[in-house]
Amino acid sequence: MSTVNKFVEMYANHSALQGTRGRKLIDLAAPESGEHVVDIGCGTGQLTYAIASRVVPGGVVYAVDPDPERLAYARANLPAELKNIRFLNTRAHELGEIPEASIDLVFSNYVFQWIEDKAVALREVGRVLRPGGRLVMEVVGKIIDIQNEISMLAGEEGRTLTRRFFCPNRDEWVAILNDAGFEIEHADWPLLDFDYANLDALFEWWEGTTHGLFKRSAISSADMERLRADYPGRIFFQRNAFVGVARRPYTLRGPHP
Ligand SMILES: C[S@@+](CC[C@H](N)C(=O)[O-])C[C@H]1O[C@@H](n2cnc3c(N)ncnc32)[C@H](O)[C@@H]1O
Repeated sequence: MSTVNKFVEMYANHSALQGTRGRKLIDLAAPESGEHVVDIGCGTGQLTYAIASRVVPGGVVYAVDPDPERLAYARANLPAELKNIRFLNTRAHELGEIPEASIDLVFSNYVFQWIEDKAVALREVGRVLRPGGRLVMEVVGKIIDIQNEISMLAGEEGRTLTRRFFCPNRDEWVAILNDAGFEIEHADWPLLDFDYANLDALFEWWEGTTHGLFKRSAISSADMERLRADYPGRIFFQRNAFVGVARRPYTLRGPHP
């Protein structure tokens, strides 16, 4: 029996933007043959496969995610020719199975918005990276109003979600990475388009990406009626993302006290 639940399928079906951005991020990261890579928050695995195919021969990708069901999906859909992915069911700040200074590239696409203590996770990233190794990441710049609006209407779990995300802006990310001891090579803040055919498509994506913490079924019928009147058709919004390349220096200065 498959362990893949409906939220995993929902995420897989509604993550085209993350996929497109992720492929660009792989180009920016430029993984090479023989490199050892960690994909933090690999999710359903499509980007991990693309990285793994670029590091052969000799390279390895550790695919890290705390959600066992997303990892099961990634394992189940693994292309047969890829033998160089090791799946780790853990979180960014607990990479203990990966030896110190053994990694050339830490890659992370749309994950750090979930990580509450970013400094602790970055310390662990710094531990596994070899001197001169790079962190290449992209992350949501802001939770936008409609996500907050529908979450606030969806019971206590929905309201908790609105407090869950800490999304620094570009300058704050630069400071966080500097404080964690990294040297910044690239810090971009592009404005991205988000486009949903209708309110149901938005619900589907938000339920999938929040692993079902947001439930449209928790919205009262009166609120749902009002939402449908307020958002009768296509939903389009723009928001920034942070795109960063940061290197572990050759001479360690360590995190600032
Ligand atoms: C929006 S998905 C992105 C998945 C994939 N990187 C992609 O671009 O398709 C965010 C992923 O981060 C994972 N995640 C959440 N908290 C995490 C943590 N503390 N450490 C590592 N991954 C985490 C989630 O389980 C989820 O699979």
